[in-house]
Amino acid sequence: MADAPPTEADALARDAADPLRGYRDRFLLPTAPDGSTAIYLAGQSLGLQPRTARAAVERELDAWARLGVDAWFGEDQPWFTLTDRLRAPMARVVGAQPSEVAILNGLTVDLHLLLASFFRPEGRRRRILADGPLFPSDRHALTSHLAWRGLVPARDLIVVEPRARASTVSTDDLEAAMREHRDELALVFLAGINFATGGAHDIERLSKAGRETGALVGWDLAHAAGNIELSLHDWDVDFAAWCTYKYLNGGPGSSGAIFVHDRHGADPATPRLGGWWGIDADRRFDMADAFVPASGAAGWEASTASPVLLAPLAASLAIFDEVGMPALRARSVALTGYLASLLAGLPVEVITPADPTARGAQLSLRFDHGEAVLGALAARGVVADFRAPDIIRVAPIPLYNTYHEAWRFAAILRELPGLGHTA
Ligand SMILES: Cc1ncc(COP(=O)(O)O)c(C=O)c1O
Repeated sequence: MADAPPTEADALARDAADPLRGYRDRFLLPTAPDGSTAIYLAGQSLGLQPRTARAAVERELDAWARLGVDAWFGEDQPWFTLTDRLRAPMARVVGAQPSEVAILNGLTVDLHLLLASFFRPEGRRRRILADGPLFPSDRHALTSHLAWRGLVPARDLIVVEPRARASTVSTDDLEAAMREHRDELALVFLAGINFATGGAHDIERLSKAGRETGALVGWDLAHAAGNIELSLHDWDVDFAAWCTYKYLNGGPGSSGAIFVHDRHGADPATPRLGGWWGIDADRRFDMADAFVPASGAAGWEASTASPVLLAPLAASLAIFDEVGMPALRARSVALTGYLASLLAGLPVEVITPADPTARGAQLSLRFDHGEAVLGALAARGVVADFRAPDIIRVAPIPLYNTYHEAWRFAAILRELPGLGHTA
């Protein structure tokens, strides 16, 4: 006999038994058109606001109001060393040493700074290998660096696309492409989790495979940081960058962040673009001619950091520290697995890998009329997002989504006109 579909009571019981259930109350949940709480499944795009974010921003505005310029150095949390204080909690999220992490700019700008340092074409070894589908901004960053060095993007950017009917490029295919081009690669640049498909790569294995070709290996972790457990230091990743407005709830347009392995960051010979913020705090005002970067990822911080911008991120990182990535990921695996099992009973194509180790929280659903489906979901109080040509992305976020929301989402989807009803 087939298993009975999970009941609403079962979903509620799962929530009641969940050790992390209290964290939902730490976030502000958007409102649905009918005035009820929306089913927010778009944390892979913009994470929700921690309740502590507003007070954190107000604290900085208040310091500005009361102290003016003196807030850079005064009080117990001087702005001048703010980014230094955020290094350790961010490092815990991505499995790095604090010295290997910096919080700065935005993701694409950070990629430019890292490409300036780590894309070093020389002779025949001048090409970049990436995985598709490639996020537009990453493509623009990579092609502009190729063009800037006098190379030909159409020739020198190799994008390994998924095979027909597969959604995510396989490790085997990436390794085969690396072997095929082994003498030509200056850089391998991959997405930890693909923005469109939600598929996760084996970062340790691919970093090793890439380096065995003689290339350096960098990662876009926009969809991985705060989503899956990472061990960037132990996996010997060369460099990585991510944004903090998705799973890390830093707020719209919040700072990007970078990882530079200590074997590069502590090496003064590693080239980096200079600015005064990349110098040790106690020497930033020195009138010396030479740019002597701070050791570690801090050496890439060229410009003044904004305490107001960073305040919500600091509030969110405090929550991550409280929960810890292992507990968060365990709940995420259970919650996304539960949603996947509900969707398995519907006429919906889930293109994200079924193996929990090959995905994070996000499930990508393929629809012929995705935008219409998104609109119908929105009218019913579900916040998801659409990526052309045919993908709706939903991510039950372990910090604030519930089993009951996953159940209600599947029930809403089942009743959508045009989707058909399951027997
Ligand atoms: C995979 C990926 N790369 C790059 C970006 C660009 O980020 P930013 O606008 O912060 O530079 C995004 C933004 O969503 C992204 O998802």
